[in-house]
Amino acid sequence: MDLSKLEMPKLEMPKFEMPKFEMPKFEMPKFELPSFELPSFELPKIIQGGMGVGVSNWRLAQAVSRLGQLGVVSGTALDTLFVRRLVDGDSGGHMKRAIDAFPFQEMARRVWNEYFVPGGKPADAAYPALTMHQAKQQRKVAELLMVSNFAEVFLAKEGHKNPVGINFLEKVQMPHLASIYGAMLAGVGYVLMGAGIPLHIPGVLDALAAQHAAVYKLAVVGATEDVYMNFDPADYAEGKLPELVRPKFLAIVSSNTLATTMLRRASGKVDGLVYESPIAGGHNAPPRGKLQVNEAGEPLYGERDRISVEDLRALGVPFWLAGGYGSPGKVREAIEAGATGVQVGTVFALTEESGLRDDLKTELLSQVRERRGHIFTDRLASPTGFPFKVAVLEGTGSQLPIYEQRKRVCDLGYLREPYEGGDGKVGYRCAAEPVANYLAKGGKQEDTVGRKCLCNSLLANVGHAQIRKDGRVEAALVTAGDDINTASEFMADGKMTYSVADVVGQLLSRVRESQTATEPELYGAPGMNPVFI
Ligand SMILES: Cc1cc2nc3c(=O)[nH]c(=O)nc-3n(C[C@H](O)[C@H](O)[C@H](O)COP(=O)(O)O)c2cc1C
Repeated sequence: MDLSKLEMPKLEMPKFEMPKFEMPKFEMPKFELPSFELPSFELPKIIQGGMGVGVSNWRLAQAVSRLGQLGVVSGTALDTLFVRRLVDGDSGGHMKRAIDAFPFQEMARRVWNEYFVPGGKPADAAYPALTMHQAKQQRKVAELLMVSNFAEVFLAKEGHKNPVGINFLEKVQMPHLASIYGAMLAGVGYVLMGAGIPLHIPGVLDALAAQHAAVYKLAVVGATEDVYMNFDPADYAEGKLPELVRPKFLAIVSSNTLATTMLRRASGKVDGLVYESPIAGGHNAPPRGKLQVNEAGEPLYGERDRISVEDLRALGVPFWLAGGYGSPGKVREAIEAGATGVQVGTVFALTEESGLRDDLKTELLSQVRERRGHIFTDRLASPTGFPFKVAVLEGTGSQLPIYEQRKRVCDLGYLREPYEGGDGKVGYRCAAEPVANYLAKGGKQEDTVGRKCLCNSLLANVGHAQIRKDGRVEAALVTAGDDINTASEFMADGKMTYSVADVVGQLLSRVRESQTATEPELYGAPGMNPVFI
C-alpha cells in the first residue's frame, strides 16, 4: 500500500461546549399517582378545623373521625409537644404505643431514649430546650418531626377506618417536609394548610408519596437568591420504604382570588378549598385596602373582604365554609349554598375531648353559658403580622398586666422569620423576641410593638407551659372565634360540658336526610343566588 496516498481522515474535533448548568428552577417533577377520587357524598360534611398548638390533638380528631366526619390534628409545634408529653412521663402510654408502631424503629428508639422521663419531670423543673428549626435541618430535628407527626396521626386513626387530616400553617415553613412525611407514614388522609399561600405543598405531597426527594422554597426576607429546603426519604430509610398514599390537599383561603390562584398555580392537585372568613378563631387574613380600626383597635372588615360563594362554586372543586358555621342552621345554609360542608373550630375547642386546659375550658364555658364570651381581634399580637383572635380571660396573656410581666425570650422559634443578613447568610428573627436582638438582626422597632410570644402561650394553653429559672410559669393566651357564644347551644340543661358527639349530632341535625347521601344537584344547583357571608 502506497502510504503516501493515504489521506488522513479529517477528524472533526467535537467542539467543547460546556454543558449548561441551569440552576434548578423550582419545578418539582410531576409524579403520576393514582389519586383517589371520592364521590362528593363521601366527603365530610363537617371538618373539625386544625387548632394549634395541641388543641386539636389526636383525641379530638379521633372522636370526630370515628363519627364519620373529618377529624384534623394540628401539626404545629408537634415536635415540642411530643417531647413535653414524654418528659411528663407519657401518662397512659399513648406515645409509647405510637413509637412502637413507627416504621423506622431505630429512629423511634433514639427519640424515646432521649426524651422519655419515667414518672415525669418534677413539677417545678423546666422542659428541655430543643434546637430551633432552620433552613437546613439537623438530622436529629428532622427525626423528631417525623416521629411526632407520625404519632399524632397514628393515634387519631387508632380503632377506626375513617380518614384523619393534619393541619399546618404555611407561615411556619421550616418543619414542613419532615412533618408531612411523618404524617404520611401514618397514613394521613388529608393535609390542610392556610396562613399563607401554600402553592408548593401539593407537589411536595406527590413527591413524598412516590418516596422521592422533595424540595420546598423557603420565603426569606431580602433574599438575593432562592433558598430551598430538601428532604429525601431515602436518607432516613431503615430497609425498604413503605408504600404511601398521597393525601388529599385542601387549601385554606380567605378570598376568591386566592382560591383561583391555588387552583391555577399550585405545584400539584388541590383537592378542595376551605374558605375561612374573618370571624374564625385563630389567625385571620388582614382586611383588604387601607387599614381601618374600631375604637378598641380591632381591624375592620368591609365589603371587599366578602367572598362570593357562587364564584367559589364555579371553580368546580369541593369547598367548605368556615368562620361562625358551628350551628345546625349554618351547616344547612352552607350546604344549600353549594358547599360540601363546613369547617368548625371554636365549638370543638371547647369539647371534653379537646386538648385545651380544663381550667381554661371551664372558665370559657361559664362565660359562654351566659353568652358573655368576648373575643378581641388583636392585630398586633401575632409575630406573623396577621390579626389573631384572643379570648378575653382573666389570668391569661389577654390581660396587659399579665403579659407585661413576661420577660421577652425566644426559645421555641416556630414563628421566626428567615432573612438574609448583610453577610449573605440566612438568619432568623421573631418580632416577639427581645427587642434589642430583633433590631440587631435588622428588624424594625415598630414591628415589635404589642407582639406576644404565641409559641410559649399556646403550649401553656394545652398544659405544657415552660417554667422559667425564676420560677415563673408561661401564661396562656387562648384563641377562639367571634361566634364563641353559640357553643352554649351544645350544653344540655344543667351540664357544664359537652362532647364531640353532642356537636356532630347537632350540627348534622338540620341537614336533610337526602343531603347526607348522593345528591348531585347540591353542586351548582341552578338558579341559586350568590351568598355573601
Ligand atoms: C383554638 C383555635 C386554634 C386554631 N388554630 C388553627 C391552626 O393552627 N391552623 C389553622 O389553619 N386554623 C386554626 N384555627 C382555625 C380553625 O381551624 C377553623 O378554621 C376556625 O376555627 C373556624 O371558625 P370558627 O372558630 O368560627 O368555628 C384555630 C381555631 C381555634 C378556635
